[in-house]
Amino acid sequence: MLGFGLLARTAAEIRRDVAAAQTRDPAARGVTAAEILATWPGVHALLAHRVAHALHGIGAPLLPRVIASTSRSVTGIEIHPAARIGGGFFIDHGMGVVIGETARIGRDVTLYQGVTLGGTGFATGKRHPTVQDNVTIGSGAKLLGPITVGHGSKIGANSVVIHDVPPNSTVVGNPGHPVRVEGRRPEGPDADWIHLPDPVADAIKALASRIATLEAKLEAKNGEEGERPPADVHRLPVTREVGGRANPAYGPNPAGG
Ligand SMILES: CC(C)(COP(=O)(O)OP(=O)(O)OC[C@H]1O[C@@H](n2cnc3c(N)ncnc32)[C@H](O)[C@@H]1OP(=O)(O)O)[C@@H](O)C(=O)NCCC(=O)NCCS
Repeated sequence: MLGFGLLARTAAEIRRDVAAAQTRDPAARGVTAAEILATWPGVHALLAHRVAHALHGIGAPLLPRVIASTSRSVTGIEIHPAARIGGGFFIDHGMGVVIGETARIGRDVTLYQGVTLGGTGFATGKRHPTVQDNVTIGSGAKLLGPITVGHGSKIGANSVVIHDVPPNSTVVGNPGHPVRVEGRRPEGPDADWIHLPDPVADAIKALASRIATLEAKLEAKNGEEGERPPADVHRLPVTREVGGRANPAYGPNPAGG
């Protein structure tokens, strides 16, 4: 009974994945399900992933990775067996797609070729994007880090997205920024989502400037001459433990992961 239930569920999933290709790929109009199953690389990669993911879920050794790596050789699409992908997922064309281990993809999501759902460095834990339902990600877009792309959003081709994307918005460019939210151009003081004000740095700058004024007054009162450059405010370097000691020169590694 359990076996029949699993079979029925798998068949329904495959039907939904093939229907996704038929409805979302203009080149698939009028093409039969059998032809899509036989010749669409995005569909091949997805079906291989569903098997690899199921085996990974029951703790099967080696086989999930072998399936993922074979699928990558054949389709050019690399999906980590642990990545969670909802129903109705469609990858158009496919070549060059990378979906990382901790990526989460909702229902009815579409990806074009060259999309990366990757990490920003060598961090462990949740380090890949979460993509909610009905999102479209254009060709060549790079989504990096444990960000969330809100449901119904579109990511423009070749965008580089490193911040959360609000639902029902369009994000383009590098760095990716919203150009439409709920169908309207973002306006007002919050329109620039990338260059947000930094109140802490502003407060420190104000204090530094007041200290410089006080120092100048004190020097004038004591009859001391000489120009003192105003205190400068720098961004604090990111530190990381190296060999048990904090190494301030060791910033986040920009390599993908
Ligand atoms: C982003 C996209 C999904 C369109 O979404 P949309 O919500 O309909 O957005 P619009 O077309 O109204 O464009 C909104 C703004 O973003 C700009 N824009 C659209 N796509 C862009 C991109 N990839 N890069 C930079 N700017 C882009 C538009 O010029 C427009 O600018 P404006 O505000 O100055 O008028 C679409 O342009 C896109 O990139 N699709 C990917 C398709 C793809 O990869 N195809 C490959 C097929 S092989």
